[in-house]
Amino acid sequence: MSMVDLDKIISLCKRRGFIFQGSDQYGGLQGTWDYGPLGTELKNNVKRAWWRRMVYERDDMEGLDCAILMNRLVLKYSGHEETFSDPMVDCRKCKRRFRADQIDAAEKCQEGGTHDLTEPRPFNLMFKTTVGPVADDNNIAYLRPETAQGIFINFKNVLDSTNRKLPFGIAQIGKAYRNEITPKNFIFRVREFEQMEIEFFVKPGTDDDWHARWVDERYNWYIGLGIRPENLRKYPQKKEELAHYAKATTDILYRFFPERPDENRQYDEVEGVANRTDFDLTCHTKGGKLVLKDGREIPNEHAVNRLTWFDHETNQHLLPYVIEPSAGVDRATLAFLMDAYHEEQVKDDTRVVLRLHPELAPIKVAVLPLKKNHDGIVSIAKEVKNMLQKKCGWRSVYDDTAGIGKLYRRQDEVGTPFCLTVDFQTLEDKTVTVRDRDTMAQVRIAIADLPQYLADKLGTA
Ligand code: GLY
Repeated sequence: MSMVDLDKIISLCKRRGFIFQGSDQYGGLQGTWDYGPLGTELKNNVKRAWWRRMVYERDDMEGLDCAILMNRLVLKYSGHEETFSDPMVDCRKCKRRFRADQIDAAEKCQEGGTHDLTEPRPFNLMFKTTVGPVADDNNIAYLRPETAQGIFINFKNVLDSTNRKLPFGIAQIGKAYRNEITPKNFIFRVREFEQMEIEFFVKPGTDDDWHARWVDERYNWYIGLGIRPENLRKYPQKKEELAHYAKATTDILYRFFPERPDENRQYDEVEGVANRTDFDLTCHTKGGKLVLKDGREIPNEHAVNRLTWFDHETNQHLLPYVIEPSAGVDRATLAFLMDAYHEEQVKDDTRVVLRLHPELAPIKVAVLPLKKNHDGIVSIAKEVKNMLQKKCGWRSVYDDTAGIGKLYRRQDEVGTPFCLTVDFQTLEDKTVTVRDRDTMAQVRIAIADLPQYLADKLGTA
């Protein structure tokens, strides 16, 4: 099946109010994006589907919501101050800056010829700020570059307040910030983004098994929400690709770039599932130490708590190992949008339809009056819309601003699973037509039966 490329998705997103350039009104701010009315609903649904499967449908998970501003010491002992950088190069001619691993030395320079590049230098990706009224070096704080660190440093707080035993996990959804040298590809590489991260704490020795389980669990989450298997891959990182703290990492790759001739380059990361061993808890525990890639050790002289768990079976304090499934909300949202996008020929017309899983669809039901100047029809249509949205809790819309054919197409294009039409027969027998987005088939249903009928179809019964 042919796939949509990013350009079509970007144009649909702007036209229909999914995603706009950040600070658009003032010429934009690179690497930032604003979610519009439909994008907000879609992204919220992605996050809700994750929370529901990862937290509510399991027995071994707690939630957390940490501050974005973090004490500098968190990022010192995590290793981010020393090592969270990308190699950058500058062109001496055009003065532009690139990521060393992303620039092609043969690329044309706008000043003529090819670029004249400097040697690579590390560029730290963290956003630094100061807190309080005095802006000096003693007040430095960082915007978190990942939500993970908040989970590690709260490990003891969560343990003490919940009485959890290993194995168990902590889940968090929230914004993170990275000053990417070259943000690009729409919401794929950005400077402000959102993560859905789990740190799953296990006994050492059981970590390999738990890592494999989490890779499958996370892969199946995407498939269960409609991603076609041919567009999703598991990629176990090679030894030389692993971050120095990771014993193993399997990336889950989505086919974000189907237009690239080299098939392997069509796929890129939507999520990473890492076995981080006890690296992070060792960094942050009282009396612990950060071990850098080059072997240097930085003893932790500031932490106030030991981040250990007491194992009553062996009467020992131990530092748990951690399995980390870390997903990008924006990348997952983009993957769901791309996978759902279809163009089909209907008679002489091309129908654009987003076949989004009903749980993800931004609008669940559209209520359309067949005649917009008929008081009886309009008032029933508005009542039905209010019932579905206020009582049943489904995002619903009422639309009478075009003919019925055009109204259907509008809803198909944004993935609305059901369109209800109120017509003259409704006035007589209190039934409406229900049109299915995917099959375009229509059935007549009594208004009184709609909540149950739609709940069954939307999977929210
Ligand atoms: N916590 C892993 C990551 O942000 O990539």
